[in-house]
Amino acid sequence: MIDKIKEFIGEAQSFSADNKEALESFRIKFISKKGILNDLFNEFKTVPNDQKKEFGQAINLLKTTIEDKVKSIQDFLESKEDSQGIYGDLTRPGSPISLGSRHPISLVKNQVIDIFSNIGFNVSEGPEIEDDWHNFTALNFPEYHPARDMQDTFFVQTNPEMQLRTHTSSVQVRYMDEFKPPLRTISPGRVFRNEAISSRSHCIFHQVEGLYIDKNVSFADLKQTLLYFTKEMFGKSKIRLRPSYFPFTEPSAEVDIYWGLKTETDYRITKGTGWLEIMGCGMVDPNVLKNCNIDPNEYNGFAFGMGIERMAMLLYQISDIRMFYENDVRFLEQFKSSF
Ligand code: DAH
Repeated sequence: MIDKIKEFIGEAQSFSADNKEALESFRIKFISKKGILNDLFNEFKTVPNDQKKEFGQAINLLKTTIEDKVKSIQDFLESKEDSQGIYGDLTRPGSPISLGSRHPISLVKNQVIDIFSNIGFNVSEGPEIEDDWHNFTALNFPEYHPARDMQDTFFVQTNPEMQLRTHTSSVQVRYMDEFKPPLRTISPGRVFRNEAISSRSHCIFHQVEGLYIDKNVSFADLKQTLLYFTKEMFGKSKIRLRPSYFPFTEPSAEVDIYWGLKTETDYRITKGTGWLEIMGCGMVDPNVLKNCNIDPNEYNGFAFGMGIERMAMLLYQISDIRMFYENDVRFLEQFKSSF
């Protein structure tokens, strides 16, 4: 009986086939229900105990020899098929095209651009490495003014005049330098601050800046514009403006939206108040207009600035800001269905 198995092993080892049918009949002969292997396993039950070990090993060797053989011939036949003709196998189903998805930061940025472009704002950009004039001085932050400490700055080591912009307000200055009023522009972009990284803050993040300059612009215009924005962006129609301070606006305010207190999450993110701070704003300080060669007696206007990550975290209920920068596809793929 051992000899018989050895003979089968020899047969399997020397077997070859150049088509699927021959391979299939080889497989059926050995592996199917009524195949040789099954017969051998049945016979195995009758083998005396002292021969079981030898017999079992031989049978296993036969089994793996056959399986290896079938697999290798199958692979060979398939690879041959693939290279048949320049089109290969035309009946094969197509391979799915895997679509990427937009980053949530881009989704929110595009949404903000969309909302403001509907009321006549265009989009402007400025450099991420900025000089002191555009990032601070022209915006009414005098040298040594403590307000500069509100924003911890990264400086360029070889030239301390240059820095990574701490806010997109620098683009206001560039825009007013370049164009004559009336002006309506929003400036999305990346900003940098020397801050410890945590779930709530990062040293790199994104802002959108807004600027509106014309004759006789009022604080009511500012409020109406922001109300329009919060309705479109968050579907919330109640806002409040709290007095605040920014060197480049006077008066200045912080904008809260009424988020509501319907769910437990609402309680958590609004700390039980229902209100959420979403941006800073104010009437452009006359000093800033002067610094940009615009006559403050003829023109005035408003400005506002908001953080994109903060809005994305609210809209998509993301609890850790670091997720935006880790490029984990499991996170990014969740935004596939968004526009
Ligand atoms: N630049 C401010 C910041 O980064 C945000 C800001 C506040 C921008 C008020 C403005 C504004 O244009 O009017 O914190």
